[in-house]
Amino acid sequence: MSELRSIPIILLGLGGVGRALVEQILSRRAYHARRYGIRLDIVAVCDSTGAAVAPQGLSDADLQQALAHKAAGGQLADLPFGYYQSQVQHVVDLEATAQTIVVDVTASPATYDALRVAQERGASIVLANKLPLTGPIEQARPLLRYPRLRYETTVGAAVPVITTTKRLAAGGERIDRIQGVLSGTLGYLMTAVEQGVAFSKAVLQAKKMGYTEPDPREDLSGRDVARKALILARTLGWDLEMSDIPVASLFPEEWASWSVEEFLSELSALDDDFYAWRDTARARHEALRYIADIREGQVKVGLEFVPLDSPLGRLRGSDNLVAFYTEYYAEHPLVLQGRGAGVHATAAGVLSDILELALFPLVL
Ligand SMILES: NC(=O)c1ccc[n+]([C@@H]2O[C@H](COP(=O)([O-])OP(=O)(O)OC[C@H]3O[C@@H](n4cnc5c(N)ncnc54)[C@H](OP(=O)(O)O)[C@@H]3O)[C@@H](O)[C@H]2O)c1
Repeated sequence: MSELRSIPIILLGLGGVGRALVEQILSRRAYHARRYGIRLDIVAVCDSTGAAVAPQGLSDADLQQALAHKAAGGQLADLPFGYYQSQVQHVVDLEATAQTIVVDVTASPATYDALRVAQERGASIVLANKLPLTGPIEQARPLLRYPRLRYETTVGAAVPVITTTKRLAAGGERIDRIQGVLSGTLGYLMTAVEQGVAFSKAVLQAKKMGYTEPDPREDLSGRDVARKALILARTLGWDLEMSDIPVASLFPEEWASWSVEEFLSELSALDDDFYAWRDTARARHEALRYIADIREGQVKVGLEFVPLDSPLGRLRGSDNLVAFYTEYYAEHPLVLQGRGAGVHATAAGVLSDILELALFPLVL
């Protein structure tokens, strides 16, 4: 067999998604070799306090050790081949070339400078991290315009929402509206409320099952949905800021400063509102959904009543769903639906982005 082409990868973040990605890279080595003649070589991996670097690629044994160590709550710096550092741009500065793919699977705004260094080098960039694309437009624009950037999993995990948006927009087709349920957690809650469960109970149940962030206000504030909606709008070329997006939180503003325990103990005060909205929805033959609505240059995020027989109205449970209304999908929208979270599905989406950049260096 002819020699494999090495694709150097710098991995920023080794949490749930990062570890699932490394596992997928390791378990698919034979497939990538046979099908594409390539080998994905992880030349550096960073967590929040340290890194492990090997310019020829970390061995599979070292990667396995790093996975086990991080899964057990350890720090990369404590491994025999790791060291302390908290500035990922130093690692990127040291290791990135035009052949490298820098993969950001952190949830940190601190990777931005590293990504810009990568861009200056002509390296490719893959993001699952939304934050580099949701800061001020002046910062996000250079990344968004960079042809060697992929960020499919920032919206809807591996459901190809970004690719579809780009393809629809590429030829100039008019996009009238994108309407989406972009939070599995909020989707789950709306279905529970529809089935008669008290809102507070549904939140506690979702928290127990690990569907919410440790602080459920992260989900209930709508901020994460707003970030995804902003990325979609910016993908359409709209120069919006986060502050341009009205975001309707599902709890009163004053509750934001409380402890998680206080917040959870007060939640039942919201139950009657949700019962009333559910009754209104029923009487109108509509459904209550937490929606990102993107149209006519504007974005809004919040609770809405939608027709029961619409794609969003028919949605149940924790799937994400995005409906594209365009010139050629006017009355019956183009609809994407599937799980919008989960470390394995997200890692698979990140891996697809990596392969696209590795295999089709000149594609848009
Ligand atoms: N989980 C999902 O289902 C899903 C779906 C779609 C998109 N995403 C996105 O994917 C990203 C990763 O999610 P996750 O669930 O894997 O998060 P996570 O488990 O919290 O992992 C985050 C990782 O980033 C590292 N990190 C944090 N700040 C850093 C910094 N300044 N420099 C280098 N590394 C840093 C953390 O280091 P330590 O290990 O030292 O803490 C950790 O290894 C997030 O942006 C998330 O929004 C996740």
